[in-house]
Amino acid sequence: MSICRVCSGAVREFFDFGLQPLSSAFVDPAGVDDEYFFPLSIGVCQSCTMVQLLTPAPRGQASHEGYPYHSSGSRVMHKHFQQLAHRLLETELSGPDPFIVEIGYNDGVVLKTVRDAGVRHLGVEPTGRGAVRVHSAFFNAGSAAEILASEGPADVVYAANTICEVAEIAEIFEGLKVLLAPDGVLVFEDPYLGEILERTAFDQIYDEHFYFFSASAVSGMAERFGFALVDVEHLPVHGGQIRYTIARRDRRRPTQAVADLLAREREQRLVEPEKLQAFATAVDRIRDDLLELLTRLRAEGKRVVGYGATAKSATVTNYFGIGPDLVPFVCDSTPSKQGLVTPGSHIPVRPPADFADPYPDYALLFAWNHAEEIMAKERAFRDAGGQWILYVPEVHVL
Ligand code: TMP
Ligand code: ZN
Repeated sequence: MSICRVCSGAVREFFDFGLQPLSSAFVDPAGVDDEYFFPLSIGVCQSCTMVQLLTPAPRGQASHEGYPYHSSGSRVMHKHFQQLAHRLLETELSGPDPFIVEIGYNDGVVLKTVRDAGVRHLGVEPTGRGAVRVHSAFFNAGSAAEILASEGPADVVYAANTICEVAEIAEIFEGLKVLLAPDGVLVFEDPYLGEILERTAFDQIYDEHFYFFSASAVSGMAERFGFALVDVEHLPVHGGQIRYTIARRDRRRPTQAVADLLAREREQRLVEPEKLQAFATAVDRIRDDLLELLTRLRAEGKRVVGYGATAKSATVTNYFGIGPDLVPFVCDSTPSKQGLVTPGSHIPVRPPADFADPYPDYALLFAWNHAEEIMAKERAFRDAGGQWILYVPEVHVL
Protein backbone atom coordinates (compact mmCIF):
# COMPACT_ATOMS: atom_id res chain seq x y z
CA MET A 1 0.00 0.00 0.00
CA SER A 2 1.06 3.53 -0.60
CA ILE A 3 -0.70 6.89 -0.40
CA CYS A 4 -2.55 8.34 -3.41
CA ARG A 5 -0.95 11.59 -4.61
CA VAL A 6 -4.35 12.92 -5.67
CA CYS A 7 -6.63 12.14 -2.72
CA SER A 8 -4.44 10.54 0.01
CA GLY A 9 -6.41 7.29 -0.30
CA ALA A 10 -4.78 3.86 -0.21
CA VAL A 11 -3.14 2.69 -3.45
CA ARG A 12 -3.27 -1.08 -3.95
CA GLU A 13 -0.58 -2.60 -6.14
CA PHE A 14 -1.57 -4.74 -9.12
CA PHE A 15 1.73 -5.24 -10.91
CA ASP A 16 5.32 -5.26 -9.70
CA PHE A 17 8.10 -4.93 -12.30
CA GLY A 18 10.84 -5.18 -9.68
CA LEU A 19 13.92 -2.96 -9.83
CA GLN A 20 14.13 -0.94 -13.04
CA PRO A 21 16.62 1.61 -14.40
CA LEU A 22 15.60 5.11 -15.48
CA SER A 23 14.30 4.79 -19.02
CA SER A 24 16.28 7.72 -20.40
CA ALA A 25 19.56 6.79 -18.69
CA PHE A 26 21.43 5.39 -21.69
CA VAL A 27 24.95 4.52 -20.55
CA ASP A 28 28.42 4.61 -21.90
CA PRO A 29 29.50 0.97 -22.32
CA ALA A 30 32.44 1.73 -20.00
CA GLY A 31 30.23 2.99 -17.16
CA VAL A 32 27.60 0.30 -16.73
CA ASP A 33 28.66 -0.57 -13.19
CA ASP A 34 27.03 2.27 -11.28
CA GLU A 35 23.55 2.46 -12.75
CA TYR A 36 20.65 3.66 -10.64
CA PHE A 37 17.65 1.36 -10.13
CA PHE A 38 14.31 2.00 -8.46
CA PRO A 39 11.28 -0.20 -7.62
CA LEU A 40 8.70 0.05 -10.43
CA SER A 41 5.23 -1.05 -9.44
CA ILE A 42 1.77 0.14 -10.31
CA GLY A 43 -1.45 0.27 -8.30
CA VAL A 44 -4.94 1.72 -8.14
CA CYS A 45 -6.28 4.13 -5.52
CA GLN A 46 -9.08 2.50 -3.57
CA SER A 47 -10.92 5.80 -3.14
CA CYS A 48 -10.47 7.92 -6.30
CA THR A 49 -9.51 5.08 -8.75
CA MET A 50 -6.45 6.93 -10.03
CA VAL A 51 -3.91 4.42 -11.33
CA GLN A 52 -0.34 5.41 -10.43
CA LEU A 53 3.14 4.19 -9.61
CA LEU A 54 3.67 3.27 -5.98
CA THR A 55 7.04 5.03 -5.85
CA PRO A 56 7.93 8.02 -8.03
CA ALA A 57 11.39 7.87 -9.57
CA PRO A 58 13.46 10.65 -8.00
CA ARG A 59 13.76 13.61 -10.38
CA GLY A 60 17.32 14.43 -9.39
CA GLN A 61 18.52 11.02 -10.57
CA ALA A 62 17.30 11.56 -14.09
CA SER A 63 19.61 12.70 -16.84
CA HIS A 64 17.38 15.74 -17.26
CA GLU A 65 16.30 18.09 -14.49
CA GLY A 66 13.22 19.41 -16.24
CA TYR A 67 10.19 17.82 -17.80
CA PRO A 68 11.38 14.95 -19.97
CA TYR A 69 12.13 16.14 -23.47
CA HIS A 70 10.14 14.24 -26.07
CA SER A 71 11.44 14.27 -29.56
CA SER A 72 10.53 11.18 -31.50
CA GLY A 73 11.60 12.63 -34.83
CA SER A 74 8.25 11.35 -36.08
CA ARG A 75 6.56 13.05 -39.01
CA VAL A 76 3.20 11.77 -37.80
CA MET A 77 3.70 13.44 -34.40
CA HIS A 78 4.87 16.68 -36.01
CA LYS A 79 1.65 16.85 -38.02
CA HIS A 80 -0.39 15.85 -34.98
CA PHE A 81 0.91 18.83 -32.97
CA GLN A 82 0.55 21.23 -35.90
CA GLN A 83 -3.09 20.25 -36.34
CA LEU A 84 -3.80 20.75 -32.65
CA ALA A 85 -2.16 24.20 -32.76
CA HIS A 86 -4.32 25.21 -35.73
CA ARG A 87 -7.44 23.97 -33.99
CA LEU A 88 -6.60 25.96 -30.84
CA LEU A 89 -5.98 29.05 -32.98
CA GLU A 90 -9.46 28.69 -34.45
CA THR A 91 -11.20 28.05 -31.13
CA GLU A 92 -9.73 28.88 -27.72
CA LEU A 93 -7.18 31.35 -29.13
CA SER A 94 -9.47 33.30 -31.47
CA GLY A 95 -10.38 36.14 -29.07
CA PRO A 96 -8.55 39.48 -28.70
CA ASP A 97 -4.83 39.12 -27.86
CA PRO A 98 -4.96 35.47 -26.79
CA PHE A 99 -2.21 33.82 -24.70
CA ILE A 100 -1.14 30.17 -24.51
CA VAL A 101 1.25 28.50 -22.07
CA GLU A 102 2.72 25.05 -22.67
CA ILE A 103 4.11 22.98 -19.82
CA GLY A 104 7.21 21.06 -20.95
CA TYR A 105 6.97 21.87 -24.63
CA ASN A 106 8.28 18.74 -26.41
CA ASP A 107 9.59 19.61 -29.87
CA GLY A 108 8.04 23.07 -29.59
CA VAL A 109 5.81 22.34 -32.59
CA VAL A 110 2.66 23.70 -30.93
CA LEU A 111 4.29 26.90 -29.69
CA LYS A 112 6.18 27.54 -32.94
CA THR A 113 2.94 27.17 -34.89
CA VAL A 114 1.06 29.66 -32.70
CA ARG A 115 4.08 31.98 -32.71
CA ASP A 116 4.04 32.00 -36.51
CA ALA A 117 0.36 33.00 -36.30
CA GLY A 118 1.41 35.99 -34.16
CA VAL A 119 -0.13 34.68 -30.93
CA ARG A 120 1.44 35.29 -27.51
CA HIS A 121 2.94 32.12 -26.12
CA LEU A 122 5.26 30.89 -23.39
CA GLY A 123 6.85 27.53 -22.65
CA VAL A 124 7.27 26.65 -18.96
CA GLU A 125 10.26 24.38 -18.66
CA PRO A 126 12.89 24.33 -15.90
CA THR A 127 15.87 23.80 -18.19
CA GLY A 128 14.78 26.56 -20.54
CA ARG A 129 15.43 24.55 -23.70
CA GLY A 130 13.85 25.33 -27.00
CA ALA A 131 13.52 27.85 -29.75
CA VAL A 132 10.42 29.58 -28.39
CA ARG A 133 9.88 31.99 -25.48
CA VAL A 134 10.53 30.14 -22.23
CA HIS A 135 9.93 30.75 -18.55
CA SER A 136 12.50 28.59 -16.75
CA ALA A 137 10.56 26.94 -13.94
CA PHE A 138 8.34 24.05 -13.00
CA PHE A 139 4.67 24.91 -13.40
CA ASN A 140 3.18 25.68 -9.97
CA ALA A 141 1.47 28.48 -8.05
CA GLY A 142 4.72 30.47 -7.78
CA SER A 143 5.69 30.40 -11.46
CA ALA A 144 2.03 30.90 -12.45
CA ALA A 145 1.91 34.10 -10.37
CA GLU A 146 5.07 35.40 -12.06
CA ILE A 147 3.64 34.68 -15.49
CA LEU A 148 0.31 36.27 -14.56
CA ALA A 149 2.11 39.42 -13.40
CA SER A 150 4.05 39.82 -16.63
CA GLU A 151 1.67 38.40 -19.24
CA GLY A 152 -1.82 38.36 -17.76
CA PRO A 153 -4.11 35.32 -17.61
CA ALA A 154 -3.80 32.37 -20.01
CA ASP A 155 -6.58 31.30 -22.35
CA VAL A 156 -4.99 27.89 -22.78
CA VAL A 157 -2.52 25.89 -20.76
CA TYR A 158 -1.44 22.93 -22.86
CA ALA A 159 0.68 19.86 -22.12
CA ALA A 160 1.41 16.70 -24.11
CA ASN A 161 2.91 13.64 -22.42
CA THR A 162 3.79 15.74 -19.41
CA ILE A 163 0.94 15.93 -16.88
CA CYS A 164 1.08 12.14 -16.37
CA GLU A 165 4.72 12.57 -15.33
CA VAL A 166 4.08 15.03 -12.52
CA ALA A 167 3.55 13.00 -9.34
CA GLU A 168 2.86 16.15 -7.31
CA ILE A 169 -0.07 16.95 -9.56
CA ALA A 170 -1.76 19.26 -7.02
CA GLU A 171 0.94 21.80 -7.92
CA ILE A 172 -0.31 21.88 -11.50
CA PHE A 173 -3.85 22.67 -10.34
CA GLU A 174 -2.60 25.31 -7.88
CA GLY A 175 -0.83 26.97 -10.81
CA LEU A 176 -3.96 26.76 -12.96
CA LYS A 177 -6.05 28.42 -10.25
CA VAL A 178 -3.69 31.38 -10.45
CA LEU A 179 -3.06 31.62 -14.17
CA LEU A 180 -6.13 30.49 -16.11
CA ALA A 181 -8.51 33.18 -17.40
CA PRO A 182 -12.06 32.72 -16.05
CA ASP A 183 -13.02 30.88 -19.24
CA GLY A 184 -9.57 29.48 -19.93
CA VAL A 185 -8.84 25.77 -20.29
CA LEU A 186 -6.19 23.21 -19.53
CA VAL A 187 -5.79 20.88 -22.52
CA PHE A 188 -3.58 17.85 -21.98
CA GLU A 189 -2.97 14.52 -23.68
CA ASP A 190 -1.48 11.38 -22.20
CA PRO A 191 -1.62 7.58 -22.59
CA TYR A 192 -5.07 6.21 -21.80
CA LEU A 193 -5.50 3.57 -19.09
CA GLY A 194 -8.36 1.92 -21.00
CA GLU A 195 -6.12 1.38 -24.00
CA ILE A 196 -3.18 0.17 -21.89
CA LEU A 197 -5.33 -2.46 -20.19
CA GLU A 198 -7.23 -3.40 -23.36
CA ARG A 199 -4.08 -3.85 -25.47
CA THR A 200 -1.76 -5.03 -22.67
CA ALA A 201 0.50 -2.07 -23.46
CA PHE A 202 2.49 -2.79 -20.31
CA ASP A 203 5.57 -1.00 -21.66
CA GLN A 204 3.82 2.34 -21.17
CA ILE A 205 4.69 1.71 -17.52
CA TYR A 206 8.14 3.18 -16.80
CA ASP A 207 9.71 5.82 -14.57
CA GLU A 208 8.49 8.87 -16.48
CA HIS A 209 4.84 7.84 -16.57
CA PHE A 210 3.57 8.29 -13.04
CA TYR A 211 -0.21 8.46 -13.69
CA PHE A 212 -2.30 6.32 -16.03
CA PHE A 213 -5.39 8.43 -16.60
CA SER A 214 -8.98 7.41 -17.16
CA ALA A 215 -11.79 9.89 -17.77
CA SER A 216 -13.43 8.98 -14.48
CA ALA A 217 -10.29 9.48 -12.39
CA VAL A 218 -9.43 12.72 -14.23
CA SER A 219 -12.97 14.01 -13.74
CA GLY A 220 -12.82 13.26 -10.01
CA MET A 221 -9.39 14.87 -9.72
CA ALA A 222 -10.51 18.02 -11.55
CA GLU A 223 -13.49 18.41 -9.22
CA ARG A 224 -11.34 17.89 -6.15
CA PHE A 225 -9.23 20.87 -7.22
CA GLY A 226 -12.15 23.16 -8.18
CA PHE A 227 -12.25 22.38 -11.91
CA ALA A 228 -14.33 20.19 -14.23
CA LEU A 229 -13.66 17.80 -17.10
CA VAL A 230 -15.52 19.36 -20.05
CA ASP A 231 -14.27 17.48 -23.11
CA VAL A 232 -12.40 14.34 -24.12
CA GLU A 233 -11.05 13.22 -27.46
CA HIS A 234 -9.52 9.90 -28.49
CA LEU A 235 -6.14 10.27 -30.20
CA PRO A 236 -4.67 7.49 -32.32
CA VAL A 237 -1.05 8.43 -31.47
CA HIS A 238 1.34 6.55 -29.15
CA GLY A 239 -0.90 3.50 -29.01
CA GLY A 240 -4.02 5.35 -27.85
CA GLN A 241 -4.23 8.55 -25.86
CA ILE A 242 -6.95 10.83 -24.62
CA ARG A 243 -6.88 14.60 -24.86
CA TYR A 244 -8.68 16.08 -21.86
CA THR A 245 -10.07 19.62 -21.61
CA ILE A 246 -10.50 21.01 -18.11
CA ALA A 247 -12.21 24.30 -17.23
CA ARG A 248 -12.96 26.14 -14.03
CA ARG A 249 -16.02 24.72 -12.26
CA ASP A 250 -19.41 25.83 -13.66
CA ARG A 251 -17.92 27.75 -16.58
CA ARG A 252 -18.59 25.24 -19.36
CA ARG A 253 -21.07 22.49 -20.11
CA PRO A 254 -19.34 19.11 -20.49
CA THR A 255 -19.71 17.65 -23.99
CA GLN A 256 -21.57 14.47 -24.81
CA ALA A 257 -18.16 12.82 -25.40
CA VAL A 258 -17.42 13.14 -21.66
CA ALA A 259 -20.69 11.47 -20.66
CA ASP A 260 -20.15 8.73 -23.26
CA LEU A 261 -16.62 7.91 -22.13
CA LEU A 262 -17.56 7.94 -18.44
CA ALA A 263 -20.43 5.54 -19.21
CA ARG A 264 -18.14 3.30 -21.24
CA GLU A 265 -15.60 3.13 -18.43
CA ARG A 266 -18.32 2.16 -15.96
CA GLU A 267 -19.54 -0.54 -18.34
CA GLN A 268 -16.01 -1.88 -18.83
CA ARG A 269 -15.42 -1.89 -15.07
CA LEU A 270 -12.07 -0.42 -15.92
CA VAL A 271 -10.28 -0.66 -12.57
CA GLU A 272 -12.04 -3.69 -11.11
CA PRO A 273 -9.70 -6.34 -9.65
CA GLU A 274 -10.62 -8.94 -12.34
CA LYS A 275 -9.62 -6.55 -15.11
CA LEU A 276 -6.29 -5.74 -13.44
CA GLN A 277 -5.62 -9.42 -12.75
CA ALA A 278 -6.28 -10.21 -16.42
CA PHE A 279 -3.77 -7.52 -17.39
CA ALA A 280 -1.12 -9.05 -15.13
CA THR A 281 -1.73 -12.51 -16.59
CA ALA A 282 -1.53 -11.12 -20.14
CA VAL A 283 1.82 -9.40 -19.45
CA ASP A 284 3.38 -12.63 -18.22
CA ARG A 285 1.99 -14.45 -21.24
CA ILE A 286 3.70 -11.92 -23.53
CA ARG A 287 6.93 -12.40 -21.61
CA ASP A 288 6.82 -16.18 -22.00
CA ASP A 289 5.92 -15.99 -25.69
CA LEU A 290 8.52 -13.38 -26.58
CA LEU A 291 11.36 -15.12 -24.71
CA GLU A 292 10.38 -18.41 -26.32
CA LEU A 293 10.39 -16.85 -29.79
CA LEU A 294 13.71 -15.01 -29.36
CA THR A 295 15.39 -18.08 -27.87
CA ARG A 296 14.14 -20.27 -30.72
CA LEU A 297 15.28 -17.79 -33.38
CA ARG A 298 18.72 -17.63 -31.79
CA ALA A 299 18.91 -21.44 -31.77
CA GLU A 300 17.98 -21.41 -35.47
CA GLY A 301 20.81 -18.98 -36.17
CA LYS A 302 18.51 -16.12 -37.21
CA ARG A 303 19.57 -12.49 -36.71
CA VAL A 304 17.22 -10.31 -34.66
CA VAL A 305 17.76 -6.55 -34.33
CA GLY A 306 15.79 -4.11 -32.15
CA TYR A 307 14.14 -1.09 -33.79
CA GLY A 308 13.67 2.11 -31.72
CA ALA A 309 15.47 2.48 -28.37
CA THR A 310 12.29 3.84 -26.80
CA ALA A 311 11.73 4.69 -23.15
CA LYS A 312 9.12 1.92 -23.21
CA SER A 313 11.71 -0.65 -24.23
CA ALA A 314 13.47 -0.23 -20.87
CA THR A 315 10.56 -2.01 -19.20
CA VAL A 316 10.38 -4.70 -21.87
CA THR A 317 14.07 -5.59 -21.90
CA ASN A 318 14.62 -5.31 -18.15
CA TYR A 319 11.47 -7.01 -16.94
CA PHE A 320 11.76 -9.78 -19.53
CA GLY A 321 15.54 -10.13 -19.23
CA ILE A 322 16.34 -9.39 -22.89
CA GLY A 323 19.98 -8.41 -23.41
CA PRO A 324 22.52 -8.35 -26.24
CA ASP A 325 22.61 -12.17 -26.20
CA LEU A 326 19.09 -12.22 -27.69
CA VAL A 327 19.05 -8.80 -29.43
CA PRO A 328 22.65 -7.84 -30.37
CA PHE A 329 21.82 -4.21 -31.10
CA VAL A 330 18.97 -1.75 -31.47
CA CYS A 331 18.89 0.99 -34.09
CA ASP A 332 17.56 4.42 -33.29
CA SER A 333 17.49 7.74 -35.11
CA THR A 334 18.38 9.80 -32.01
CA PRO A 335 22.07 10.78 -32.30
CA SER A 336 22.50 11.22 -28.52
CA LYS A 337 21.53 7.57 -27.90
CA GLN A 338 23.81 6.12 -30.57
CA GLY A 339 27.09 4.64 -29.30
CA LEU A 340 25.59 4.10 -25.84
CA VAL A 341 23.88 1.00 -24.43
CA THR A 342 20.28 0.75 -23.25
CA PRO A 343 19.60 1.33 -19.52
CA GLY A 344 19.86 -1.85 -17.47
CA SER A 345 19.72 -4.23 -20.43
CA HIS A 346 22.91 -2.93 -22.08
CA ILE A 347 21.94 -3.44 -25.70
CA PRO A 348 24.16 -1.27 -27.94
CA VAL A 349 22.33 1.53 -29.80
CA ARG A 350 23.35 2.05 -33.43
CA PRO A 351 22.26 4.46 -36.17
CA PRO A 352 19.40 3.41 -38.50
CA ALA A 353 21.87 2.97 -41.38
CA ASP A 354 23.20 -0.13 -39.62
CA PHE A 355 19.77 -1.74 -39.95
CA ALA A 356 20.25 -2.35 -43.67
CA ASP A 357 23.88 -3.40 -43.42
CA PRO A 358 22.87 -6.18 -43.98
CA TYR A 359 19.19 -6.52 -43.04
CA PRO A 360 18.51 -8.91 -40.15
CA ASP A 361 16.02 -11.78 -40.48
CA TYR A 362 13.75 -10.21 -37.85
CA ALA A 363 13.28 -6.75 -36.36
CA LEU A 364 11.84 -6.45 -32.86
CA LEU A 365 9.79 -3.25 -33.06
CA PHE A 366 10.21 -1.51 -29.70
CA ALA A 367 8.79 1.71 -31.26
CA TRP A 368 5.46 -0.01 -31.97
CA ASN A 369 3.65 3.30 -31.42
CA HIS A 370 5.26 4.45 -34.68
CA ALA A 371 4.65 1.11 -36.48
CA GLU A 372 2.89 2.49 -39.54
CA GLU A 373 5.45 5.22 -40.18
CA ILE A 374 8.44 2.95 -39.59
CA MET A 375 7.15 0.03 -41.63
CA ALA A 376 6.41 2.37 -44.54
CA LYS A 377 9.91 3.84 -44.31
CA GLU A 378 11.53 0.41 -44.06
CA ARG A 379 9.53 -1.26 -46.83
CA ALA A 380 12.77 -2.55 -48.37
CA PHE A 381 13.35 -4.67 -45.26
CA ARG A 382 10.12 -6.60 -45.90
CA ASP A 383 10.89 -6.79 -49.60
CA ALA A 384 14.23 -8.39 -48.71
CA GLY A 385 12.36 -11.09 -46.75
CA GLY A 386 12.62 -9.49 -43.29
CA GLN A 387 9.86 -9.82 -40.71
CA TRP A 388 8.69 -7.58 -37.88
CA ILE A 389 8.17 -8.92 -34.36
CA LEU A 390 5.55 -7.09 -32.28
CA TYR A 391 4.53 -7.88 -28.72
CA VAL A 392 1.50 -5.64 -28.15
CA PRO A 393 -1.30 -6.66 -27.74
CA GLU A 394 0.32 -10.10 -28.04
CA VAL A 395 3.44 -11.55 -29.62
CA HIS A 396 3.03 -11.73 -33.38
CA VAL A 397 5.23 -11.75 -36.47
CA LEU A 398 4.38 -9.63 -39.52
P1 TMP B 1 8.84 7.82 -28.63
O1 TMP B 1 8.07 6.56 -28.53
O2 TMP B 1 9.05 8.49 -27.33
O3 TMP B 1 8.28 8.73 -29.70
O4 TMP B 1 10.32 7.41 -29.09
C1 TMP B 1 10.55 6.82 -30.31
C2 TMP B 1 12.01 6.37 -30.42
O5 TMP B 1 12.13 5.68 -31.65
C3 TMP B 1 13.00 7.51 -30.44
O6 TMP B 1 14.16 7.12 -29.71
C4 TMP B 1 13.34 7.67 -31.91
C5 TMP B 1 13.11 6.30 -32.48
N1 TMP B 1 12.61 6.32 -33.85
C6 TMP B 1 13.43 5.81 -34.86
O7 TMP B 1 14.53 5.33 -34.59
N2 TMP B 1 12.97 5.85 -36.16
C7 TMP B 1 11.74 6.38 -36.48
O8 TMP B 1 11.37 6.40 -37.66
C8 TMP B 1 10.91 6.90 -35.42
C9 TMP B 1 9.56 7.48 -35.73
C10 TMP B 1 11.39 6.84 -34.13
ZN1 ZN C 1 -6.88 8.65 -4.79
